[in-house]
Amino acid sequence: MEERRPDNMERITTEALAKAFIDEKVQAIKEQVGERRVLLALSGGVDSSVVAALLIRAIGRNLVCVHVNHGLLRKGEPEQVIRVFRDEMNANLIYVDAVDRFLDKLAGVADPEKKRHIIGEEFIDVFAEEARKLDGVDFLAQGTIWPDILESEAGVKAHHNAGGLPADIADRFELVEPVRILFKDEVRMVGKALGLPDNMVYRQPFPGPGLGVRCVGAITRDRLEAVRESDAILREEFAKNGLEGKVWQYFTVVPDFKSTGVKEGKRTFDWPCIIRAINTTDVMEVTVEHLPDELIDHLVERIIREVPGINRVLYDFTPKPPATVEYE
Ligand code: XMP
Repeated sequence: MEERRPDNMERITTEALAKAFIDEKVQAIKEQVGERRVLLALSGGVDSSVVAALLIRAIGRNLVCVHVNHGLLRKGEPEQVIRVFRDEMNANLIYVDAVDRFLDKLAGVADPEKKRHIIGEEFIDVFAEEARKLDGVDFLAQGTIWPDILESEAGVKAHHNAGGLPADIADRFELVEPVRILFKDEVRMVGKALGLPDNMVYRQPFPGPGLGVRCVGAITRDRLEAVRESDAILREEFAKNGLEGKVWQYFTVVPDFKSTGVKEGKRTFDWPCIIRAINTTDVMEVTVEHLPDELIDHLVERIIREVPGINRVLYDFTPKPPATVEYE
């Protein structure tokens, strides 16, 4: 469906405009798809979640969602995807627990580009395996949005049709891209009007390789848990302190080295946890968010007390450039 965003299209800035978009799109999906079935890789990110909610409204259980848990998601994310889509929206959702498979493939791999490559390839393999198991699915839905199209046209970033799937799978499907003419803020408006929870609609950006690029060096299960637990504490404290939705992106990183500390009179030898909190408009240039001292003290205290394997908390004061947002 090669729909273009008209130059003069009104920006979706109100609930009423979002609802009108939804009505129109639901009708268009029904016309395109009819009684046939649609497949969607549902990560739980804003774009795929909004696409899922739109398609569920249009075709109900003829949408087949596949949620792949690669073990690199944030704390509570797979559970939330299942709760929101399967339990609350009655979605036809296939949950794939691929945690061991990903972590086994990543074991001992310290090179950042190799890690990213393995995660991307493995994701496609797992999704393609699920797709091959399904009969009678003619469409593949994607959360492509307008900036993806602009970027790929400008040659900034390759935008893969059918998400880089192998040809035997990709060729089987016709694409359904119901939010491709929308900007990110419009996708959020539509998600809100579809009744998705705020923490899904206003979610901060999260890289495809997930916590894998924040568990710097070769990923081990214990260090990955330290990233996941410290990230959960950081997100909880940002929410409590009214910073959620105000700071553009914030997360923790646990690098693969240890230092000496002392706890209850005994020597420790554990990892540091690095906090990164940044603001930006275009992610090309990024400034560092300066947190209040009391919040920093509280975060240090909680992370040290609650996260096994951490004996030091550091704050990253580096803008981009010279540092990138993520560590790998
Ligand atoms: P960097 O580290 O390049 O990050 O300064 C800029 C923004 O992009 C996000 N990021 C990714 N997003 N897939 C994504 O969808 C990825 O592989 C990826 N890597 C980085 C990063 O979180 C930041 O918001």
